[in-house]
Amino acid sequence: MTPDRYALARLPDRSPAWLHSYPAHLSRTWTLASGESLFVRPVRHDDGELEETFVRALSRESRYQRMLSGGTKVTPEWIDSMTHIDYHRHMAFAVTTMSDGVEQFVGVGRYVVDAVKSSAEVALVLADAWQGQGLGRRLLETLLEHAESAGIREALGTVLATNVAMLGLVRSMGFTVSPEPGDATVRRISRQLTTVRATVSAQPH
Ligand SMILES: CC(C)(COP(=O)(O)OP(=O)(O)OC[C@H]1O[C@@H](n2cnc3c(N)ncnc32)[C@H](O)[C@@H]1OP(=O)(O)O)[C@@H](O)C(=O)NCCC(=O)NCCS
Repeated sequence: MTPDRYALARLPDRSPAWLHSYPAHLSRTWTLASGESLFVRPVRHDDGELEETFVRALSRESRYQRMLSGGTKVTPEWIDSMTHIDYHRHMAFAVTTMSDGVEQFVGVGRYVVDAVKSSAEVALVLADAWQGQGLGRRLLETLLEHAESAGIREALGTVLATNVAMLGLVRSMGFTVSPEPGDATVRRISRQLTTVRATVSAQPH
């Protein structure tokens, strides 16, 4: 386990209340084939600027695929809803890199729990320049492993029918892809989570 050096370095003198529930121990370092290191850590409540910069830099297509709509406005309220999370009902991981000593998001994955159904709705997005390098798979694995360890039984999602990359990714990770009744433009994805660890550790990286 790698300490969340960057998160810890930014600790303010007087800790805000949310920091007491911040699960810093879930932070990791990923080393790419190129030797470059990326950091994976739970999203912090004070990540608003990083989240906004990340989302605004996404291509129109990536944003559309992630939001399933071109109309989502990046308002302060929306940014707050993406960063002020409770780490139980709403969990999110950011993949980050350091550029000239400044941390940047290169990917964000999250899930929101439906406690009644014991399921979670998952979504993720990688910065355009970082797509196609295996990060989406690793981020989704991270989300599923964490969801499973939190007692969630099923991962669900809605994906555009034209999103070849996401549908390919989830199929290769054992999700079922089904039509959404009444909406031919999207697909429902689902996967039971009882076997995530065994499947993930058997997959090549
Ligand atoms: C979908 C997305 C998350 C995938 O992440 P990624 O890092 O690009 O994907 P990876 O490099 O980890 O690839 C994993 C698998 O996805 C599939 N895949 C990825 N890109 C693909 C493409 N262009 N065409 C077909 N399959 C593709 C493949 O099965 C691939 O496995 P392989 O490399 O063994 O063939 C990423 O492309 C993205 O952020 N897209 C925009 C936002 C979005 O669509 N989010 C999903 C909606 S919730």
